[in-house]
Amino acid sequence: MPGGVKTDVRTYQLYIKGEWVDSKSNKTFPVYDPASEEVIAQAPDANADDVNRAVAAAKAAFEDGPWATTTAQERGRVLFRLADKIRQNTAMLAELESRNTGKPIVEAEYDITDVATCFEYYGGLATKILGYVNPVPDNAMSLTLKEPIGVAGQIIPWNYPLLMAAWKLAPALAAGCTCVLKPAEQTPITALEMANWLSDVGLPPGVVNIITGFGETCGAPLVQHPDVNKIAFTGSAAVGKIIVKQAADTVKRVTLELGGKSPNIFFADADFEAAIDGALFGVFINQGEVCSAGSRILVQKPIYKKFVDAMAAKAKTIKLGAPLDRDTKMGPLVSKEQYDRVRSYQEVGKKEGKLAAGGGRAEKFAKGYYIEPTIFYDLDNSARIAREEIFGPVAAVIPFEDEKDAVKIANDSPYGLAAAVWTRDIFKAFRTVKSLRAGIVWVNHMQPTYVEAPWGGYKQSGFGRELGPWGIEEYLETKQVHINLNEAPIGWY
Ligand code: NAI
Ligand code: MG
Repeated sequence: MPGGVKTDVRTYQLYIKGEWVDSKSNKTFPVYDPASEEVIAQAPDANADDVNRAVAAAKAAFEDGPWATTTAQERGRVLFRLADKIRQNTAMLAELESRNTGKPIVEAEYDITDVATCFEYYGGLATKILGYVNPVPDNAMSLTLKEPIGVAGQIIPWNYPLLMAAWKLAPALAAGCTCVLKPAEQTPITALEMANWLSDVGLPPGVVNIITGFGETCGAPLVQHPDVNKIAFTGSAAVGKIIVKQAADTVKRVTLELGGKSPNIFFADADFEAAIDGALFGVFINQGEVCSAGSRILVQKPIYKKFVDAMAAKAKTIKLGAPLDRDTKMGPLVSKEQYDRVRSYQEVGKKEGKLAAGGGRAEKFAKGYYIEPTIFYDLDNSARIAREEIFGPVAAVIPFEDEKDAVKIANDSPYGLAAAVWTRDIFKAFRTVKSLRAGIVWVNHMQPTYVEAPWGGYKQSGFGRELGPWGIEEYLETKQVHINLNEAPIGWY
């Protein structure tokens, strides 16, 4: 945008039963650009009435609509066509995503490409949902059938808005489920834009419904709704715990991805330059607003001081800038709320450790929720900034003695989403991999994520797995079928 020109503030609608509708209350809420702090759109403030409408549409589509008899091949083709639409519109979607989240445009383009790839992957997987023949010891045939779980409620966060929507919609649709998706209130736009194509690509009305609103007034009624068969959630641990409790009354299936405090472990024999790069990338990519952020950086004592100095020197060169600038490596945080939270952790860190870089707002920007890439060191793993998820560009560097010490510190966390280990010693690498209590472990890298491989955490990082064949399992029920081949009476009485 040239300076001073204001973009149109568009008012969006809900997407229910294949139609654009206002929320029952007619209320909307503002959606912001976190760089300009200006309102860029209005989205409907959906409440329980709208949840009821969306769930009714999803239930009807699951039970009576054409989707119920759509073949796996056709479901796959629908997902391929949706992937094509996404690819054709990458530039538009990436720009919207970048403006709304504050993430650098180049990263947003990668995200949108991953969205298309995710729909393609599950389009292919739709025809590979296999059952079993169970070898029972009788004159009978025993089968295991895999069937869609029904109506899926999907609640997603703001850090990768359309990608998180894809991670949830793609496997659900491949499995034959119907969906009610609730984007995060901070970032509802790209999911609603995608809804423009859902009918064109062949999804019958009610198969995907998108309702925008807040957690307590829109998310909670979705979790509690008796006609929702499963909730898939990505977000904070605090809300994950509420969801498990609220889902109990209707014995809903729940999967949770709750982020973490992932250790990025550097042994003294690691390639030093690659290590510094990997430490920074692990914690500062996407402004640090990453569930698997390597926010605890464990460094072996012989290289510790040199490591902190090199990290700090390079962190100071990271280019903060306007999200739509192609040179920008770090934009503003997504919202005022997130900015305030991260700023408060910077202050906590100053009491708990020593500051090597950053520590405040990036003051060269007149506006926007910009935070300096911040590195604390000389702190203990018991410090709050080493235990609590910050979800911003704040790293805690912690020294360790040896392999045993590294594993002990790494596993001393309520979380267990991800971890990484850097070394040139293959024995040490593999021993550490086996000892780490985490759902994803990288060796000599951190963060690459592929739709082909499972994603999810140990311990309080949640349960269930997304992506790959694991992701579709979470949307399938297992039915046992026994076919008697004995024509004679049972002969018991
Ligand atoms: P949040 O967990 O409150 O929001 C995530 C989603 O849950 C949003 O769609 C929200 O509307 C919904 N939600 C909130 N309360 C709900 C409820 N009672 N019932 C049903 N749905 C509800 O996350 P928030 O407040 O945006 O961020 C807080 C912290 O959460 C961050 O600082 C970060 O530590 C963590 N977080 C972790 C993410 C991850 O990828 N695992 C993503 C986003 C945030
Ligand atoms: Mg919240």
